[in-house]
Order: sequence, then structure tokens, then C-alpha cells
Amino acid sequence: MRGVYVSAVLLLNCAAGDILRGVDVPLYAFAGGQATLSCSYDLRATRLYSLKWYHNGTEFYRYVPTERNHPTYIKPTLKFSVTEQFRNEQRVTLSLTRLSVSASGQYRCEVIAEHPSFRTEASTAKMIVLREPLKAPVLVGAREIYEPTELIKIGCQTRQPFLQEHLPTLKWYLNDNKVDPERVTPYSKSLLPGYLGLSLHVPGEEIAAAGGSMQAECRLTLGPHTLSTYKTLRVRVRMISYVDNYYSLGVVLRGNVMAVMLTSAAVTIATHC
Ligand SMILES: *[C@@H]1O[C@H](CO)[C@@H](O)[C@H](O)[C@H]1NC(C)=O
Repeated sequence: MRGVYVSAVLLLNCAAGDILRGVDVPLYAFAGGQATLSCSYDLRATRLYSLKWYHNGTEFYRYVPTERNHPTYIKPTLKFSVTEQFRNEQRVTLSLTRLSVSASGQYRCEVIAEHPSFRTEASTAKMIVLREPLKAPVLVGAREIYEPTELIKIGCQTRQPFLQEHLPTLKWYLNDNKVDPERVTPYSKSLLPGYLGLSLHVPGEEIAAAGGSMQAECRLTLGPHTLSTYKTLRVRVRMISYVDNYYSLGVVLRGNVMAVMLTSAAVTIATHC
């Protein structure tokens, strides 16, 4: 399916004689952080006259191959620092660092073909720079040990508020497997505005059956960014109560020949008694 789609796009590009293949811009970045921007082009049909990057319509990077001494020019700005990370005959990749919130907006890459066509093509993508760095979610209500008869309930919530249009997702995993939807319940309504919560419900029996412990992970995802918080869920296994039986039986049967056998199988002995 994917192969079909890709070849269709290539055909369109060839038919149109396009030189710009597209831009790669992360939808989300964080103030003070970094973002990698890529612009891909194809020079099979023609030669490149210039490749420029604009932010909200203001040019900040220019590559003009015919300018032999200074083919690239970066215009300093207070919104971010720009370094060229990679450049070849197909792609220019920039690294934007020290991002400020005002670095949010539209990023446009424009390519112009050489004389005689001077064909101009551009592609634009949005980036949103969030003020606060992303924080790992917090787990609430978890205990160190549970009984196998209990329904274990744990909450996972964000440590910071999010705007309605930039909501992250929360997901629960048990031993790296995504938890079924019927085992999770959102509870954002009971939190402060902009905070998200997702509770997990697992029968203690299930964890007992898996050997007494499972790794629970709450994963927060926003665009390409992912942060997780982990907790090992432990359930008292029934073995412990067999040992209790063993000791009590041991007391009752002390002195009896059968007591010797108790060390191997307390439960079996119990039925014999
Ligand atoms: C660019 O536009 C976005 C919204 O479109 C705005 O948030 C941002 O502050 C603008 N930045 C500059 C420097 O114009």
C-alpha cells in the first residue's frame, strides 16, 4: 500500500517537473530547546539557483550554489540560533537551537531553479514552540504491595497544563504491552483545567498469575516527544499463605513423623490431615 502511494507521488512529481520534494518540520518543540528542519529537493530536471527558509515570511537562511565563496547565508535572529547540519544535492537540514516561543509559526522552504526557467516552488509546515519543557507524567495512588483479591487502581496524570489544541496523549502499558481500553478510564474532568489523567485497573490475580509482579508504564506523547513513568506492581503471591499453613501445621504436628514431609508440600499434607 505504502509502495503504491510513494510511486504515485513520484509520478506526479516527474509529470510536474517539480524540484521541491517537501519539508520536514516537527509540529512541537520547546522553549530553549532544539528543532531539526529539512528541505528536500530533486535536481534531475534542472539546476538549483537558490534554496531559502522563511519563518512567518521572514527569510533566515539562504543557499545559492553559484555564490562560490559564500554559498550559504544565515540571517541572525533573536527567535532562534541556526546551524546548517547537513547539505547535499538533495537536501538541506538545519538545526534551530535556543528556540523562543516566538519561533512558533510557519516555516517555508522555497527553491528556485536556475536560468532559464527560474521556476519557484515552496512548501510550508507549522511548528509550535511550547513555553514549558515537557515533564514526565506522575503516578498517583500506587502502593508497594497488593493482595491478589484486590482490583489495583492507579492514576497517571500530567504535571503541567496543556492547551486544548495541543493535548498530549496518555497510554498505559503492562510489561510493554498496551493495556486494553476497558482497563483504563480518563479522569481529566476532576483535575485542574488543562491537566489530563488516565487511571489503570488491573485485577491483582492477573499479576499474581504472571509471577507476582508486572512493570506498569504510563507514557505521555506529544508529537515526536515521549516521556514515561514506571512502577513495578507487586502482588502477594499465595505461596506465602502456604508457608503460613506449613508453620501452623508444623506446630500441630510437631513430634509426628509426618512433620518431616511438611518441608516439601504443605498443601498435600494439609489434605492428608
Ligand atoms: C509567527 O506566527 C505565529 C502564529 O502564526 C506566532 O505565534 C509567532 O509569535 C510569530 N512569530 C514571529 C516572530 O512573528
